Amino acid sequence: MVRVLVTGGTGYLGRVLVRHYSERGHEVHATWHRRFPEPRDGVSWHSSDLADLEATRQFVERLGPELVVHTAYATGDAPHDVVTARAPGAIAAASRSIGARLIHLSTDVVFDGTTGGYREGDPLRPVTAYGQAKADAEAAVAAADPGALIVRTSLLYGGGEVGPQEQMVQRALSGDDPRLAFFTDELRSVVQLDDLAAAIVELASASASGPLHVAGPEPVTRHEFAWLLARAQGLAIAPDQVPMAISGDFAGIRPKNCTLDSTVASQLLTTRLRGAREVLAPDAPTLSDR
Ligand SMILES: NC(=O)c1ccc[n+]([C@@H]2O[C@H](COP(=O)([O-])OP(=O)(O)OC[C@H]3O[C@@H](n4cnc5c(N)ncnc54)[C@H](OP(=O)(O)O)[C@@H]3O)[C@@H](O)[C@H]2O)c1
Repeated sequence: MVRVLVTGGTGYLGRVLVRHYSERGHEVHATWHRRFPEPRDGVSWHSSDLADLEATRQFVERLGPELVVHTAYATGDAPHDVVTARAPGAIAAASRSIGARLIHLSTDVVFDGTTGGYREGDPLRPVTAYGQAKADAEAAVAAADPGALIVRTSLLYGGGEVGPQEQMVQRALSGDDPRLAFFTDELRSVVQLDDLAAAIVELASASASGPLHVAGPEPVTRHEFAWLLARAQGLAIAPDQVPMAISGDFAGIRPKNCTLDSTVASQLLTTRLRGAREVLAPDAPTLSDR
Protein backbone atom coordinates (compact mmCIF):
# COMPACT_ATOMS: atom_id res chain seq x y z
CA MET A 1 0.00 0.00 0.00
CA VAL A 2 1.34 3.41 -0.98
CA ARG A 3 0.48 6.84 0.41
CA VAL A 4 -0.38 8.69 -2.77
CA LEU A 5 -1.27 12.33 -3.35
CA VAL A 6 -3.28 13.17 -6.46
CA THR A 7 -3.35 16.91 -7.11
CA GLY A 8 -6.43 18.02 -9.00
CA GLY A 9 -8.44 15.11 -7.60
CA THR A 10 -11.65 16.85 -8.67
CA GLY A 11 -10.50 17.13 -12.29
CA TYR A 12 -11.39 14.90 -15.22
CA LEU A 13 -8.26 12.74 -14.99
CA GLY A 14 -7.86 13.26 -11.23
CA ARG A 15 -11.26 11.73 -10.45
CA VAL A 16 -10.37 8.58 -12.38
CA LEU A 17 -6.92 8.34 -10.79
CA VAL A 18 -8.45 8.69 -7.31
CA ARG A 19 -10.80 5.82 -8.18
CA HIS A 20 -7.97 3.64 -9.55
CA TYR A 21 -5.77 4.18 -6.51
CA SER A 22 -8.56 3.68 -3.98
CA GLU A 23 -9.79 0.51 -5.75
CA ARG A 24 -6.26 -0.86 -5.39
CA GLY A 25 -6.36 -0.21 -1.63
CA HIS A 26 -3.81 2.60 -1.47
CA GLU A 27 -3.91 5.42 1.09
CA VAL A 28 -5.26 8.15 -1.15
CA HIS A 29 -4.96 11.88 -0.57
CA ALA A 30 -6.37 14.25 -3.17
CA THR A 31 -6.65 18.01 -3.57
CA TRP A 32 -9.50 20.19 -4.73
CA HIS A 33 -9.66 23.89 -5.45
CA ARG A 34 -13.13 25.20 -6.43
CA ARG A 35 -15.23 22.06 -6.98
CA PHE A 36 -16.25 20.46 -3.70
CA PRO A 37 -15.24 16.79 -3.98
CA GLU A 38 -17.58 13.83 -3.68
CA PRO A 39 -16.70 11.85 -0.55
CA ARG A 40 -15.23 8.41 -1.21
CA ASP A 41 -14.23 5.77 1.34
CA GLY A 42 -10.51 5.74 1.99
CA VAL A 43 -9.87 9.10 0.29
CA SER A 44 -8.74 12.15 2.28
CA TRP A 45 -9.49 15.44 0.58
CA HIS A 46 -7.39 18.60 1.01
CA SER A 47 -8.28 22.08 -0.14
CA SER A 48 -5.45 23.61 -2.16
CA ASP A 49 -4.57 26.74 -4.10
CA LEU A 50 -1.50 26.17 -6.23
CA ALA A 51 -1.12 29.92 -6.71
CA ASP A 52 0.41 29.94 -3.22
CA LEU A 53 3.70 28.25 -4.03
CA GLU A 54 5.08 28.22 -0.49
CA ALA A 55 1.88 26.78 1.00
CA THR A 56 1.87 24.16 -1.77
CA ARG A 57 5.45 23.13 -0.98
CA GLN A 58 4.75 22.96 2.76
CA PHE A 59 1.54 20.98 2.25
CA VAL A 60 3.30 18.27 0.24
CA GLU A 61 6.19 18.07 2.69
CA ARG A 62 3.86 17.87 5.73
CA LEU A 63 1.65 15.22 4.16
CA GLY A 64 4.69 13.11 3.26
CA PRO A 65 3.31 10.98 0.42
CA GLU A 66 5.49 8.32 -1.19
CA LEU A 67 3.97 9.09 -4.59
CA VAL A 68 2.67 12.38 -6.01
CA VAL A 69 0.68 12.49 -9.24
CA HIS A 70 0.38 16.12 -10.27
CA THR A 71 -2.57 16.62 -12.57
CA ALA A 72 -3.86 20.04 -11.41
CA TYR A 73 -3.52 23.02 -13.69
CA ALA A 74 -5.54 26.10 -14.52
CA THR A 75 -7.26 26.99 -17.76
CA GLY A 76 -7.29 30.64 -18.55
CA ASP A 77 -7.94 32.02 -15.09
CA ALA A 78 -5.45 34.42 -13.59
CA PRO A 79 -2.89 33.70 -12.21
CA HIS A 80 -2.72 31.07 -14.90
CA ASP A 81 1.03 31.13 -15.35
CA VAL A 82 1.73 30.58 -11.63
CA VAL A 83 -0.66 27.66 -11.26
CA THR A 84 0.19 25.89 -14.52
CA ALA A 85 3.80 26.89 -15.12
CA ARG A 86 5.35 27.47 -11.70
CA ALA A 87 3.49 25.38 -9.12
CA PRO A 88 4.81 22.13 -10.66
CA GLY A 89 8.34 23.28 -9.74
CA ALA A 90 7.27 23.79 -6.10
CA ILE A 91 5.66 20.34 -6.06
CA ALA A 92 8.76 18.81 -7.61
CA ALA A 93 11.06 20.47 -5.03
CA ALA A 94 8.85 19.23 -2.18
CA SER A 95 8.62 15.71 -3.67
CA ARG A 96 12.38 15.52 -3.98
CA SER A 97 12.97 16.80 -0.44
CA ILE A 98 10.79 14.02 1.04
CA GLY A 99 11.97 11.32 -1.40
CA ALA A 100 8.55 10.94 -3.07
CA ARG A 101 8.19 9.66 -6.63
CA LEU A 102 6.61 12.41 -8.76
CA ILE A 103 4.57 11.86 -11.91
CA HIS A 104 3.80 15.19 -13.55
CA LEU A 105 1.13 15.43 -16.25
CA SER A 106 1.99 17.31 -19.42
CA THR A 107 0.57 17.64 -22.88
CA ASP A 108 1.15 17.04 -26.59
CA VAL A 109 0.82 20.78 -27.29
CA VAL A 110 4.32 21.46 -25.95
CA PHE A 111 5.12 20.66 -29.61
CA ASP A 112 4.35 22.95 -32.53
CA GLY A 113 2.35 20.38 -34.50
CA THR A 114 4.29 20.72 -37.75
CA THR A 115 5.47 17.11 -38.06
CA GLY A 116 3.61 14.87 -35.59
CA GLY A 117 4.96 11.51 -34.44
CA TYR A 118 6.83 13.31 -31.68
CA ARG A 119 9.31 11.39 -29.58
CA GLU A 120 10.40 12.24 -26.05
CA GLY A 121 13.66 13.92 -27.12
CA ASP A 122 12.14 16.19 -29.76
CA PRO A 123 12.51 19.91 -29.12
CA LEU A 124 9.60 21.68 -27.45
CA ARG A 125 8.15 24.50 -29.53
CA PRO A 126 4.76 25.44 -28.08
CA VAL A 127 2.63 27.81 -30.15
CA THR A 128 -0.12 28.44 -27.58
CA ALA A 129 -0.04 30.10 -24.14
CA TYR A 130 -1.19 26.83 -22.55
CA GLY A 131 1.53 24.87 -24.39
CA GLN A 132 4.13 27.41 -23.26
CA ALA A 133 2.98 27.21 -19.62
CA LYS A 134 3.15 23.41 -19.73
CA ALA A 135 6.61 23.53 -21.35
CA ASP A 136 7.75 25.91 -18.60
CA ALA A 137 6.27 23.50 -16.04
CA GLU A 138 8.22 20.60 -17.52
CA ALA A 139 11.46 22.57 -17.29
CA ALA A 140 10.75 23.53 -13.66
CA VAL A 141 9.94 19.92 -12.73
CA ALA A 142 13.05 18.51 -14.41
CA ALA A 143 15.26 21.12 -12.71
CA ALA A 144 13.81 20.59 -9.22
CA ASP A 145 13.45 16.80 -9.38
CA PRO A 146 15.44 15.08 -12.14
CA GLY A 147 13.97 11.71 -11.10
CA ALA A 148 10.42 12.88 -11.82
CA LEU A 149 8.46 11.27 -14.62
CA ILE A 150 6.81 13.74 -17.01
CA VAL A 151 3.89 12.05 -18.71
CA ARG A 152 2.92 13.80 -21.94
CA THR A 153 -0.49 12.83 -23.13
CA SER A 154 -3.18 13.83 -25.61
CA LEU A 155 -6.92 14.50 -25.63
CA LEU A 156 -8.73 12.43 -23.00
CA TYR A 157 -12.14 10.79 -23.38
CA GLY A 158 -14.25 7.97 -22.00
CA GLY A 159 -13.86 6.70 -18.48
CA GLY A 160 -17.54 6.27 -17.64
CA GLU A 161 -18.63 9.88 -17.66
CA VAL A 162 -19.42 12.49 -20.25
CA GLY A 163 -16.17 14.43 -20.43
CA PRO A 164 -15.26 17.70 -22.15
CA GLN A 165 -14.80 16.13 -25.60
CA GLU A 166 -18.12 14.28 -25.42
CA GLN A 167 -19.85 17.45 -24.20
CA MET A 168 -18.44 19.44 -27.11
CA VAL A 169 -19.83 16.88 -29.57
CA GLN A 170 -23.24 16.95 -27.86
CA ARG A 171 -23.31 20.76 -28.01
CA ALA A 172 -22.39 20.80 -31.69
CA LEU A 173 -24.87 18.13 -32.74
CA SER A 174 -27.78 19.37 -30.64
CA GLY A 175 -27.46 22.79 -32.26
CA ASP A 176 -26.84 24.39 -28.84
CA ASP A 177 -23.63 25.86 -30.23
CA PRO A 178 -23.97 26.21 -34.03
CA ARG A 179 -20.48 27.72 -34.33
CA LEU A 180 -18.85 24.53 -33.07
CA ALA A 181 -17.09 22.51 -35.76
CA PHE A 182 -14.30 19.95 -35.74
CA PHE A 183 -11.00 20.28 -37.54
CA THR A 184 -10.31 17.83 -40.33
CA ASP A 185 -6.65 18.84 -40.42
CA GLU A 186 -5.71 18.49 -36.74
CA LEU A 187 -4.37 15.13 -35.66
CA ARG A 188 -4.16 13.88 -32.08
CA SER A 189 -3.23 10.63 -30.30
CA VAL A 190 -6.38 10.62 -28.20
CA VAL A 191 -6.35 8.30 -25.21
CA GLN A 192 -9.07 6.63 -23.17
CA LEU A 193 -9.09 7.87 -19.58
CA ASP A 194 -8.97 4.47 -17.81
CA ASP A 195 -6.12 3.32 -20.09
CA LEU A 196 -4.15 6.41 -19.15
CA ALA A 197 -4.95 6.10 -15.43
CA ALA A 198 -3.93 2.42 -15.39
CA ALA A 199 -0.69 3.31 -17.19
CA ILE A 200 0.06 6.08 -14.68
CA VAL A 201 -0.56 3.71 -11.76
CA GLU A 202 1.80 1.19 -13.35
CA LEU A 203 4.49 3.76 -14.11
CA ALA A 204 4.90 4.70 -10.44
CA SER A 205 7.06 1.63 -9.92
CA ALA A 206 9.00 1.96 -13.18
CA SER A 207 12.42 3.55 -12.88
CA ALA A 208 11.80 5.86 -15.87
CA SER A 209 12.33 9.58 -15.46
CA GLY A 210 12.05 12.63 -17.70
CA PRO A 211 9.46 12.92 -20.45
CA LEU A 212 7.45 9.87 -21.50
CA HIS A 213 4.73 9.84 -24.15
CA VAL A 214 1.65 7.98 -22.95
CA ALA A 215 -1.09 8.33 -25.55
CA GLY A 216 -3.22 6.39 -28.00
CA PRO A 217 -1.48 4.53 -30.84
CA GLU A 218 -3.90 5.64 -33.58
CA PRO A 219 -3.81 9.21 -34.85
CA VAL A 220 -7.29 10.61 -35.47
CA THR A 221 -8.38 13.98 -36.74
CA ARG A 222 -10.52 16.00 -34.36
CA HIS A 223 -13.34 15.56 -36.85
CA GLU A 224 -13.11 11.76 -36.95
CA PHE A 225 -12.76 11.75 -33.17
CA ALA A 226 -15.99 13.77 -32.85
CA TRP A 227 -17.76 11.33 -35.19
CA LEU A 228 -16.51 8.32 -33.19
CA LEU A 229 -17.65 9.94 -29.94
CA ALA A 230 -21.07 10.67 -31.44
CA ARG A 231 -21.42 7.03 -32.60
CA ALA A 232 -20.38 5.78 -29.17
CA GLN A 233 -23.16 7.92 -27.69
CA GLY A 234 -25.64 6.03 -29.85
CA LEU A 235 -26.05 8.59 -32.63
CA ALA A 236 -26.25 6.85 -35.99
CA ILE A 237 -24.82 9.62 -38.13
CA ALA A 238 -22.57 9.81 -41.13
CA PRO A 239 -19.22 11.56 -40.78
CA ASP A 240 -20.34 14.44 -43.01
CA GLN A 241 -23.16 15.20 -40.56
CA VAL A 242 -20.55 16.23 -38.01
CA PRO A 243 -19.70 19.91 -38.58
CA MET A 244 -16.26 20.31 -40.14
CA ALA A 245 -13.71 23.09 -40.09
CA ILE A 246 -10.15 23.70 -41.21
CA SER A 247 -7.64 24.64 -38.55
CA GLY A 248 -6.18 27.22 -40.92
CA ASP A 249 -9.50 29.13 -40.89
CA PHE A 250 -9.18 29.70 -37.16
CA ALA A 251 -7.95 33.15 -36.17
CA GLY A 252 -5.31 31.99 -33.66
CA ILE A 253 -2.27 29.79 -34.22
CA ARG A 254 -3.07 26.13 -33.51
CA PRO A 255 -0.74 23.12 -33.48
CA LYS A 256 -1.99 20.84 -36.28
CA ASN A 257 -0.34 17.47 -35.95
CA CYS A 258 0.58 16.81 -32.33
CA THR A 259 0.56 13.02 -32.51
CA LEU A 260 2.82 11.39 -29.97
CA ASP A 261 4.99 8.32 -30.48
CA SER A 262 4.36 6.19 -27.37
CA THR A 263 6.71 3.33 -28.32
CA VAL A 264 8.89 3.75 -25.22
CA ALA A 265 5.88 3.66 -22.89
CA SER A 266 4.39 0.64 -24.64
CA GLN A 267 7.67 -1.23 -24.01
CA LEU A 268 7.57 -0.32 -20.30
CA LEU A 269 3.88 -1.04 -19.73
CA THR A 270 1.72 -4.11 -19.48
CA THR A 271 -1.32 -1.77 -19.71
CA ARG A 272 -2.34 -1.52 -23.36
CA LEU A 273 -3.13 1.94 -24.68
CA ARG A 274 -5.97 1.45 -27.11
CA GLY A 275 -6.76 3.48 -30.18
CA ALA A 276 -9.96 5.51 -30.47
CA ARG A 277 -11.45 3.30 -33.17
CA GLU A 278 -10.86 0.16 -31.10
CA VAL A 279 -12.49 1.74 -28.03
CA LEU A 280 -15.33 3.65 -29.64
CA ALA A 281 -16.26 1.84 -32.83
CA PRO A 282 -14.43 -1.41 -33.44
CA ASP A 283 -16.90 -2.31 -36.21
CA ALA A 284 -16.89 1.09 -37.96
CA PRO A 285 -15.10 1.73 -41.25
CA THR A 286 -12.38 4.34 -41.03
CA LEU A 287 -13.08 7.61 -42.78
CA SER A 288 -10.47 6.76 -45.40
CA ASP A 289 -12.40 3.53 -46.23
CA ARG A 290 -15.52 5.43 -47.06
N1 LIG B 1 -8.00 16.85 -20.63
C1 LIG B 1 -7.20 16.60 -21.65
O1 LIG B 1 -7.67 16.29 -22.78
C2 LIG B 1 -5.69 16.69 -21.47
C3 LIG B 1 -4.87 16.51 -22.59
C4 LIG B 1 -3.47 16.53 -22.42
C5 LIG B 1 -2.94 16.77 -21.17
N2 LIG B 1 -3.75 16.97 -20.11
C6 LIG B 1 -3.16 17.25 -18.79
O2 LIG B 1 -3.72 16.36 -17.84
C7 LIG B 1 -3.86 17.02 -16.59
C8 LIG B 1 -5.29 16.87 -16.09
O3 LIG B 1 -6.18 17.48 -17.01
P1 LIG B 1 -7.75 17.48 -16.74
O4 LIG B 1 -8.42 17.66 -18.04
O5 LIG B 1 -8.09 16.33 -15.87
O6 LIG B 1 -7.93 18.83 -15.90
P2 LIG B 1 -9.27 19.47 -15.30
O7 LIG B 1 -10.41 18.55 -15.44
O8 LIG B 1 -9.39 20.85 -15.87
O9 LIG B 1 -8.93 19.59 -13.76
C9 LIG B 1 -8.01 20.55 -13.31
C10 LIG B 1 -7.79 20.32 -11.83
O10 LIG B 1 -6.91 21.36 -11.34
C11 LIG B 1 -7.48 21.92 -10.18
N3 LIG B 1 -7.08 23.32 -10.06
C12 LIG B 1 -7.35 24.34 -10.91
N4 LIG B 1 -6.85 25.49 -10.45
C13 LIG B 1 -6.24 25.18 -9.26
C14 LIG B 1 -5.55 25.94 -8.29
N5 LIG B 1 -5.37 27.28 -8.42
N6 LIG B 1 -5.07 25.32 -7.20
C15 LIG B 1 -5.25 23.97 -7.04
N7 LIG B 1 -5.88 23.20 -7.93
C16 LIG B 1 -6.38 23.81 -9.04
C17 LIG B 1 -8.98 21.79 -10.37
O11 LIG B 1 -9.61 21.87 -9.08
P3 LIG B 1 -11.19 22.26 -8.92
O12 LIG B 1 -11.89 21.52 -10.03
O13 LIG B 1 -11.55 21.75 -7.57
O14 LIG B 1 -11.28 23.74 -9.04
C18 LIG B 1 -9.08 20.40 -10.98
O15 LIG B 1 -9.04 19.42 -9.98
C19 LIG B 1 -3.41 18.46 -16.80
O16 LIG B 1 -2.12 18.61 -16.30
C20 LIG B 1 -3.45 18.66 -18.31
O17 LIG B 1 -2.48 19.58 -18.74
C21 LIG B 1 -5.13 16.94 -20.23
